Formats: sequence, structure tokens, C-alpha cells
Amino acid sequence: MPTLNWIGKDKVINHHLDVPFRTLDAQYTFQAGPRQAKESAATALSDNLIIHGDNLEALKALLPRYEGQVRCIYIDPPYNTGNEGWVYNDNVNDPKIKRWLNSVVGKEGEDLSRHDKWLCMMYPRLKLLHKLLAEDGVIFISIDDNEVQNLRPILDEIFGGQNRIEQFIWKKSYGGGAKERYAVTVHEYVLMYAKSKDKISELTLPPDPDAEARYYKLTHEKLAIRGPFRIKPLEATKSMDRRENLIYPIPAPDGTEVWPKRQWWWAKERAYSAVENNDLYFIKAKDGAWSISYKQYLRDDTGEERRSKPFSIIDGIYNQVGSAALRELFADRGQNVFQFPKPVELIEKLLSMLQLSADAIILDSFAGSGTTAHAVENLNRQDGGKRKFILVEMEDYAETITAERVKRVMKSNFTPPPLTVTNN
Ligand SMILES: C[S@@+](CC[C@H](N)C(=O)[O-])C[C@H]1O[C@@H](n2cnc3c(N)ncnc32)[C@H](O)[C@@H]1O
Repeated sequence: MPTLNWIGKDKVINHHLDVPFRTLDAQYTFQAGPRQAKESAATALSDNLIIHGDNLEALKALLPRYEGQVRCIYIDPPYNTGNEGWVYNDNVNDPKIKRWLNSVVGKEGEDLSRHDKWLCMMYPRLKLLHKLLAEDGVIFISIDDNEVQNLRPILDEIFGGQNRIEQFIWKKSYGGGAKERYAVTVHEYVLMYAKSKDKISELTLPPDPDAEARYYKLTHEKLAIRGPFRIKPLEATKSMDRRENLIYPIPAPDGTEVWPKRQWWWAKERAYSAVENNDLYFIKAKDGAWSISYKQYLRDDTGEERRSKPFSIIDGIYNQVGSAALRELFADRGQNVFQFPKPVELIEKLLSMLQLSADAIILDSFAGSGTTAHAVENLNRQDGGKRKFILVEMEDYAETITAERVKRVMKSNFTPPPLTVTNN
């Protein structure tokens, strides 16, 4: 597979090994209330964590305890748009990152383009994230057109191209852009990779609460268990290759034989068993011709509501919603505390594709306003789970925004200052 090269790559490719193991200075936990200062990280790490510090050191500090334990990682790193006026620096020009780059890449660092810098920043962090991921774990990475073409090859290198699951297109806004000279960009991406694709079970989304009202309207004798049904044509579309075993007659209610125009979706055995179980739906046209559909029930035969496959395009969740929700949560501050937080519903949707166990650990090492923790808390509230989150945020608002948001969402009685990465 072709690999991507950039100035400085040789310096960062094994840099994650050189990062020293530092300890986490635990100060508080959410569950247990204030802890004694300087308590060892080992005891505190059973709880949710918010870590204030550079994620390179924080991820390394998490390794001894969490290597191979994290079931899901969501990250939303700086997109490298060149915009430095936000609450965080989006250009890898943050003084802390600049200092780090100079020390790691050395003199060569003077020639780095902004893409080289971004890649140098991301590579060792992705290496550590890969180590933290469980064998059946997945990573989601939000990104846009500034770096997606560079991110994909390094993910293919670190995770293996065979472990790429999807490059979701997220339609992030529903309008705007009169100022745009060319096309109005209303989308970005979420790349999804597995640590090991064959260990991942199939992706499904929870039942759509509006599905019944919207699609499932037909009623029948199995209503009590399987709910109402909708109908789908049994006649296959042209997109399917011709197969002789899908061409056969099905007996209609009046005893005549119905042949497909081209072929059916199902093999004979399955269709005949559906006839037997009254799972096919026959419609007679005015000219006497029959058309056949199959019944798709709201619930399966154990009474479980139908989950659906996620689509590669995510629509219906918009950035505007994320900003409004955060504004509401921080209404007392009377301003936008954080630009472009991701909508909590977006992360909830990604997490819920995975059917995460009730004790799964979810990590976000570019935490920003803490949306990932909010999503984890929402999922836990929905199903009574006890999933844990680990957040890392480098900027000083780790305390005033990230941890504060989590506190407000969890309705704790005290402000939990974040952990800091210390040099001892
Ligand atoms: C795009 S924002 C994330 C927004 C977040 N998803 C939300 O919904 O609020 C990226 C965040 O990563 C943080 N960040 C950048 N480099 C970092 C590093 N090396 N270590 C820890 N955090 C970092 C930035 O300060 C910023 O808050």
C-alpha cells in the first residue's frame, strides 16, 4: 500500500516510544467527591476522567492502566483550517505545540508546511490511541477537506487499510454560505477504523422512535408480537445480477402463478415459507395482474424492535444545534463559550452504532467543550449503563468549560477540577 511521506515523518514515527511515562495528578472524581491532593492515579482511574494537559503525555500516562481497554475513541482534532482566532488554536500554531514540534523535529522543523506540522502532531498521538484501543474497539475521527486526504493514509498505515470501516459524510449544516464564491460546503467527514475489523459485530442503529408513525401502518394477525408492517417489493431491481435460482413462480391467492418480470429478491425456499406464514402481500391490479411484496414488521419474532443499518451519509443533525445546546447549558455566561462544539446527537449516534456494553470505556483526547462525555452520559441515562469516559483537553478551559459542562450535565454538587499531567 502506498504510504504518505512528509518532512519530519522520520522524527515522529517512533516518537511515542520516547515520550516519558508521567503520572496523573488526581484531584477529584465525579462519583466520590473531592479526593486528597496527590492521591495516586491508580485509585482514581476507576472513575470518569478529565485530564488537563497535552494529550501526547496524557495518553502515554494512561497506557499502563488502559492499554487495550478502550472500546471506543472519538476525536475531533484541529482541522488545520488556518483559523487562529477561535477559542483554541486550529492551526497547529499553538505555542505549546510549536515548542513540542521544535524539540521533536529539530532544525528540519523550520521548513515544515502547515500540513507537515499537522501530520507530525497527529502521528504519535494516533499511535498511542491505537495501543489504547481494545481488540474489538473502534475509533471515529471528525475531519474536513483540509486534512482528510492526509489523515486517511496515516490511519491506513497505523490501523491497516483493511480495518477501515467507513468514511461517513456528515451533513453539518442545513444552509448558509451566501458569501461563498464557489460551492457552499455543508459537509465534513467522520472516519471510522477498527483495531481489528473481524472482531467488530455488525453496525446497527437503535429503533427510530418515529418509525412506527412514519412507515409501519399496516396491521395483521401478528400485531401483538411483531407490530404493524410496511411492504417492500419482492421483485428485484435491475441493479442485481441475473440469477436463475431467483426466477420461479409464486402461487397467488386465486391459485394462478405469478412470475417475476426479471427475478425475485429471495430464493424459492424462503419465498414459499413466507407464503406459508402469510408474510407476503399480494396486490391485484385492475387488469388482473398480481404484484407481490413482502411484509417488513416493526419488530422481530421475539418482539424486539427492528434496528437499522447506518447510512454512510449522516443527515438531520446540524452544527447549529450543537451550538444552541451549549449556549443553553451556559446561559448564565451570556455568550458563546465555545465555537463549533459538535452536536451531542452526532456523537450519540456514532456511539449507539456499536451497542456498547454497559461498562465500556470511551475516550476523547481532543475534548474541547466535552461533548463526548455529554453523549456518554445521555446513553447511560437512556439504558441505565455505567459507561466511563476519559477526556483530555490541553487548554486552560479544561476546567472552566470541559469539566464544568460535564458537571452541569451530571448535576454534581461541586466543580470538579480536571486532573493535570505532572512531571513526577
Ligand atoms: C475541534 S476542538 C474539539 C471540539 C469538541 N469535539 C467539542 O464538541 O467541543 C479540538 C480541541 O482539541 C484541543 N487540543 C488540540 N491539541 C491538543 C493536544 N495536543 N492535547 C489536548 N488537547 C488538544 C483543542 O484545545 C480543542 O479544544
